[in-house]
Amino acid sequence: MIIRNIGQLVGIVSEGVLRKEGRDQGETGILENAWLRTRNGLIEDFGPMTSCPCDDNVKDAGGGMLMPGFCDSHTHIVYAGSREGEFLDKINGLSYEEIARRGGGILNSSDLLHSTPEDELFGQSMVRVREMMSKGTVAMEIKSGYGLNPEDELKMLRVIDRIRREVSAEVRSTFLGAHAVGRGYTHEAYVSEVVNMIPKAAQYADFVDVFCDEGFFTVEDTERILSAAKGLMVPKIHANELAVGGGVQVGVRHGALSVDHLERTTDAEIQVLKGSATMPTMLPGSSFFLGLPYGRAKDFIAAGLGVALASDYNPGSSPSGDMRFVLALGCIRMRLTPIEAFNAVTLNSAYAMGLSDRLGSITRGKQAKLILTLPGWNLTRLAYNYTTPFISKVLL
Ligand code: NIG
Ligand code: FE
Repeated sequence: MIIRNIGQLVGIVSEGVLRKEGRDQGETGILENAWLRTRNGLIEDFGPMTSCPCDDNVKDAGGGMLMPGFCDSHTHIVYAGSREGEFLDKINGLSYEEIARRGGGILNSSDLLHSTPEDELFGQSMVRVREMMSKGTVAMEIKSGYGLNPEDELKMLRVIDRIRREVSAEVRSTFLGAHAVGRGYTHEAYVSEVVNMIPKAAQYADFVDVFCDEGFFTVEDTERILSAAKGLMVPKIHANELAVGGGVQVGVRHGALSVDHLERTTDAEIQVLKGSATMPTMLPGSSFFLGLPYGRAKDFIAAGLGVALASDYNPGSSPSGDMRFVLALGCIRMRLTPIEAFNAVTLNSAYAMGLSDRLGSITRGKQAKLILTLPGWNLTRLAYNYTTPFISKVLL
């Protein structure tokens, strides 16, 4: 298939570039008035319209922008029911931690998940997956973590696996047994239970995650869990959302692919991340929803690091999987340039789930999972007119 009359072809990156760091994060290839050819679902070639090899099998982009689809490297979209009741508590002044202490929060979702049959859970989750895809997400990571006992964690992992087989978007799976202490366990007993779950979980999950934060799991718990998962699942860590607590350091020590949240960081975390393979990932949707600080993305980039942005779509701290809104928050609240934010929601977030060798940029040989916009759009306008519909077609 050939697409012609592309107003702007955005996100052109040479082969072999797996992430954008420092100054490079502010750059990407853009070709005005372009064509692009795909074959067997892959990008085969592209170029300026003056050299279009246009034959009969041609689609017209009508001057729209063509860009890689969004890669969302951090979601919790397999959950049951909703937490609208807690939303009202939040409006009335309770914090995320206060809601959790009252038995709401993650444990509330865990109870709902326990009483929801697997097929029903799959159906409810698929509604969110389809919504995300319609908004341009072509790859997503999905975590367990509302099961909180062996049986229900496996139920979640099976549902994620079924989603992976059902949709044309790429899906990566993460075992987040250590999301909260499950009902009926002491803290210590639950950490041991998580360790016990690892071999079975690894049959489904690519990654292992720990909510390493104040009031949830300690650095020592995290150390234990990551040691047990070594060689089975690559770590991705929840760190520094509620407090600065050593989650970044333990993640980097264990070769985490990403450390996520980072609403609070000191220069020490920036130093630790330098020279590592770990992608700092920020989740501005949860900063927005919970009224938390936004991560110091600019400082990370100034230090020569790359930054990824993801939605954190979940029922408690970020009930939205809209990656265009995430990109816009990156610009509006974190003061990223549109290109920095674009790289954060495409190539760098693909890297944060181990997919940037085949997704996240316009590169020959990569998957043609793309967004074609309506005529006249560009990256700056995507963030500026942040609620105006912009998608003409999501090509999967
Ligand atoms: O990433 N911080 C921990 N976990 C989720 C929230 C989960 C929930 O509240 O259901 C997060 O924000
Ligand atoms: Fe999360």
